[in-house]
Amino acid sequence: MTMDTRHFLTLTDLTPDELRGIVTRAIELKSAHRKGADYTPLKNKTLALIFDKSSTRTRVSFEAAMTHFGGNAIFLTAQDTQLGRGEPIEDTARVLSRMVDIVAMRTFSHDTIEKFAANSRVPVINALTDMFHPCQLLADVQTYQERRGDIAGATVAWIGDGNNVCHSWMNAARLFGFNLRVATPEGYGPNADLLAACASHVDMISSPADAAAGAAIVVTDTWASMGQEGEKTERMTAFEGYIVDRDIMAVAAADAMFMHCLPAYRGLEVAADVIDGEQSVVWSQAENRLHAQKALLEFLLST
Ligand code: CP
Ligand code: NVA
Repeated sequence: MTMDTRHFLTLTDLTPDELRGIVTRAIELKSAHRKGADYTPLKNKTLALIFDKSSTRTRVSFEAAMTHFGGNAIFLTAQDTQLGRGEPIEDTARVLSRMVDIVAMRTFSHDTIEKFAANSRVPVINALTDMFHPCQLLADVQTYQERRGDIAGATVAWIGDGNNVCHSWMNAARLFGFNLRVATPEGYGPNADLLAACASHVDMISSPADAAAGAAIVVTDTWASMGQEGEKTERMTAFEGYIVDRDIMAVAAADAMFMHCLPAYRGLEVAADVIDGEQSVVWSQAENRLHAQKALLEFLLST
């Protein structure tokens, strides 16, 4: 690998054209997969998955993607590597990137993945940090595009915590050219520097209903992300009134989609009859993780 190795630590690592190309390619790969196409561009290639946090969708979609593409994935946690015994992240990156072709990492601090990437000879993908979840947004934009076409110009309402997934929706708004309204309780807003950088496409709105009014997508996420388990009680109180329920969906566009990256907590951030109702596209979002990440792997390993 050369100095030109491309990483995907945030959506901003790719250009708007590259991002659109990946989403369009994901739709093609999904259709090919459904037709039973045998397409194995990553034969003999290895993906290392380094996960410091739990995962269902991200892990399985990356492992299945490598199987479909004819390659292999190795799942690693701190407990079964020397990371857990104090080997520096930089040294781990130098060693692993001499053995594997690409790495996906899920960790707490965004600095950790930046340090890893700075010392890696091969592409590094952010599989979620406390700050961002860019892979999720590839699948979410794909889910919208499959149903309605280009997301540019659409209005999206984020209701809930100003967390890692919210931050990636903010980046997506400026890169894909849609408008994002963010409604969070006081003290749980998104990162201020990122908000300033995304100001042209992101507005903070004080009430969930005002944010949702006329929106094409209403999206939320858990009120207590991984690593915030100790704050659960105070968060449940602070987020009262932020549930996405039928009243919220009723003020959105008549054909609005409900999105959630999952895992979801029914009765907290979303009412059961919304997530399990007709406007919900959450299972497509989850499925599209597979296809969007296949397009991402193909892109990073061919540039
Ligand atoms: N949405 C998502 O990233 O799910 P997992 O935590 O199950 O990977
Ligand atoms: N915001 C959630 C997303 C899980 C996919 C978390 O970080 O736990």
